[in-house]
Parts: sequence; C-alpha cells; structure tokens
Amino acid sequence: MKIEVFQMERMQSTWENLVEYDMSESGVSPLTLRELVAMGFDLEKFLDVPLGYSQSNGTLALRETLAKIYPGTTAETFQVTNGTSEANYMAALSQLREGDVFALETPNYMQLWGVPRSLGAETRTFKLRLDRGWEPDWEEFERAVGQGTRMVYVSNPNNPTGAVLSDAAMKRIVERCDSVGAYLISDEVYLGAEISRPRTKSFWGMSERVIVTSGLSKAYGIPGVRIGWIVGPKEMIAECWTQHDYVTICPNKMSDEIARVAVKNRERCYARTRELLTANLEIAREWVAGFDGFLEWREPEAGAIALVKYHADVGSAELCERMRVRQSTLVVPGAYVGLEGYLRIWLGGREEYMREGLRRIGVELRACAVPAGR
Ligand SMILES: Cc1ncc(COP(=O)(O)O)c(C=O)c1O
Repeated sequence: MKIEVFQMERMQSTWENLVEYDMSESGVSPLTLRELVAMGFDLEKFLDVPLGYSQSNGTLALRETLAKIYPGTTAETFQVTNGTSEANYMAALSQLREGDVFALETPNYMQLWGVPRSLGAETRTFKLRLDRGWEPDWEEFERAVGQGTRMVYVSNPNNPTGAVLSDAAMKRIVERCDSVGAYLISDEVYLGAEISRPRTKSFWGMSERVIVTSGLSKAYGIPGVRIGWIVGPKEMIAECWTQHDYVTICPNKMSDEIARVAVKNRERCYARTRELLTANLEIAREWVAGFDGFLEWREPEAGAIALVKYHADVGSAELCERMRVRQSTLVVPGAYVGLEGYLRIWLGGREEYMREGLRRIGVELRACAVPAGR
C-alpha cells in the first residue's frame, strides 16, 4: 500500500520542536497530569497497576462512560483508538475498497484525503465557502456525493475554518448520504471547543449511517494521552476492532484510565478551553484589524485555530517558509489544508506566546503587503 506524505503533519513533525514559536498547533495549551489528578485520576493507586496490555477495543469501563454521552449507545458501539487520527484511519480502512468513491469537504485537516487514496478509492472534494459562512457549495456537494459514494467525511466544528454547520446544513448532508447509501464520518474532535456559541450539535443519531469519531486532543486539551474513539453501527464497529487488532492492538493502559476521568469531567475541560480561546480570540481580533483589510477572516466559532486570508501575490507555502526561516515561527500554509491564499494560525496558547507568535507572523505579512520597489 503506497501512501502520499501527509504534508501538514510532516511539516509539523519536522519543525515544531526546532522553532521558537510553534503557531502551527491546533489544540489548546494541554492539561498536566497534576490537573488530571485534581479531577480524580488516582495516580498513587495507578503506581501499583501492572503495565500489561489493556482491552484491545478499550476497557468496558471507558466504553460505558462514553456510552453515557451518545444517546442510544452501548459499549458495543465503541472502538477506542490511539487518538482521533487512528479513529479516522480505522473507519476508512474498515470500509473502503479499491474503486470506491470517498468524498470530503475542503478546506480540511486532510488526513482523510491521503488514506482513502492509498486504499484505491477515488477521492472527491466539495468546497466550503467563506462567502457562505463556510457552508458547503451545495452543487459541488451533490456532484461529489452521488450514487456509488461509499463514505463522506466532514469535521464539525471544522478544522481549519472554525465554523460550525447549521442544523439545516447537517440535515441536508445526512439526507443526501442516506439517499445514496453512503456512510457519513463526522469528526467531532473540536466539539466542546466552542468560543462564542452554544454547544455544537453532534451528528450522532441523525441516521443509521452516521459514524462519529472524536477524542481527547482538542476540546479536552489532552492530546498526549492519545485517546480517541469511534461510535457507529455495531457491525461497522466490529470491523474496526478487527482492523485495530492488526494495527496497534490496544490503547495505552494508563491513557484508558485517564480518559475515563477526562470524559467524566468533560464540562470542566471544555470550560478551561473556552476561557483560553475567548481571551485569545480578542487578541487575534485586534491583530487582524491592525492590517487594515490586508487580512480577511470569518472569526472562528469553535476550535483553537483561525483561518486567515491574505491579499498578496505569494504562495502560502513560500510565505510560511519565510516565517520559519526569518522569524523562527511555524505556521500552516493554506495549501496544506486544501485552500491556497490562506494561513492557518494557532489560537490555543498562553497569552504572551500568542502575542509574540502573532507579532512575528505580522512582520512577514507586512513585508509582503508592501508592493515591490517601494
Ligand atoms: C479534525 C481533526 N481530526 C483529527 C485530528 C487528529 O487528532 P488526534 O490527536 O486525536 O489523533 C486532528 C488534529 O489536528 C484534527 O484537527
């Protein structure tokens, strides 16, 4: 199986630990083990737990805890994974065969651009449009999702736009998937990271063909424990379990236990995330306004990133390379999330870090805003 390089992740893993300011991140400043102990993780007791294998589809205790937050589910409707990325991978791997059609929105996180292609599926895209509040271009959507489409992927709240789909848009997506017999994967890892709006509605329960992937990395603020999950129809989850046994066998034992504490305390985690993002959005708002129209954005409603359009005649990869080399600051080029002419900028850090990171990005933006020769 040949797979293309995941451009954004490769750029991050190459440079994120070498630059002074990593503004390519996409979560909130993470929780510590001490904070999780304060929420009820019994570290002292865990010191005596033998570090054997854990239950390969996630402990019953964790799956039962998860079942409480998705109406109508039981432990059998979950596969616990090593992060949301493994959840997405397993969902695609369990269903896609050579010649299948897979559709995804762009811009996007782009993991499920590369994976379906590596499995021999035809990958189609439909655009999200800034001039429509980042909702899908419906003509493109209907062209991409037709008879024979096997799976559709959306991230809601979306990485990188920070937009949340309206109820009407969700209904339209589900109805179309149902009518053509496609599974819908809704990646909800940012659900709970709302900044200025009520809680995002989950796609879960809208149809028998909905699969939700999620995890602790974003809204919860705990990416380092590497816990994600898939919730879906029982037969589909059983196939994911089969795949999972071949790939990583099981989640990390300590992480599984931490996840139970985190999920039980999710409102506390979400509140911490909202507080941080609300303060940072204010900083980003002032920063964008300081460019007098050179930058354009729709403020993110949720999530720890901002997608900013710049008006200059330079490619986003080239612009980000200048930021890295001259400012020791890493930023994700729009080209790596499926939308040229934009930058994806982190919003989830501590105040001083955010201010300095944005200042450095601003230096390079201002340099390219000045017409050559002046
Ligand atoms: C939409 C989306 N899905 C999945 C992932 C991967 O998450 P995890 O760290 O839980 O594997 C990311 C990470 O940025 C993401 O933005």
